[in-house]
Amino acid sequence: MLTVLDNPLVRRDITLLRDKTTTPDRFRAAMQRIGTALAVESAKFLAMRTFRVETPLEETEGYDIGHDVVLLPVLRAGVSLVQAFSDLMPEARIGYIGLSRNEETLATEEYYCNIPKLSPDSLVFILDPMLATGGSICSTVERLEARGAKKIVVVSVIAAPEGVKRVEGAYPNMQILTSTLDRCLNEHGFIMPGLGDAGDRYHGTM
Ligand code: PRP
Repeated sequence: MLTVLDNPLVRRDITLLRDKTTTPDRFRAAMQRIGTALAVESAKFLAMRTFRVETPLEETEGYDIGHDVVLLPVLRAGVSLVQAFSDLMPEARIGYIGLSRNEETLATEEYYCNIPKLSPDSLVFILDPMLATGGSICSTVERLEARGAKKIVVVSVIAAPEGVKRVEGAYPNMQILTSTLDRCLNEHGFIMPGLGDAGDRYHGTM
């Protein structure tokens, strides 16, 4: 199921990301704010555990997160969402997967994979700002399921309808959260109108 954030602050920040004159420092700051909005929205996927807590006056109901939360940024661009998510979900463990896209074949190639031990109770947030063809997300979900993950949420900043369709086709029950759904992919697999390459713009490596 696809959720698209509807928030004026996020729309303003998406515009900053899109603007080709935005410098890497302002790009990072906008990404941080969008990441915070996405992390707040992601909280709806968290189950709660209740327990009794004693205030200075009496005992009452208390709440805690009922999941083992795992953040899995897809290198490099996924790094841009880690700070915001780990600030709001400080109990999360963090893994990394390094995937690059072969710009000729558009196929996904893995160059790094360090995923923490998972249990069926783990809730994994895949963090990747760009959902283009969906190849990176499908490869990541495949690796997570092979390690026993049962609860996965895909978090992106900008998504193309083609990529969403591919992920939903392969994983019909997948929760996908994004802050904007763009028009289409171009012939090079770039999201249009898009923002260019999030990894390069965030790291200042254009
Ligand atoms: C980009 C982007 C996503 C992926 C999306 O990564 O950051 O990870 O492509 O494309 P897909 O949906 O077609 O798989 P890129 O290969 O540019 O690496 P980078 O993050 O290191 O810039």
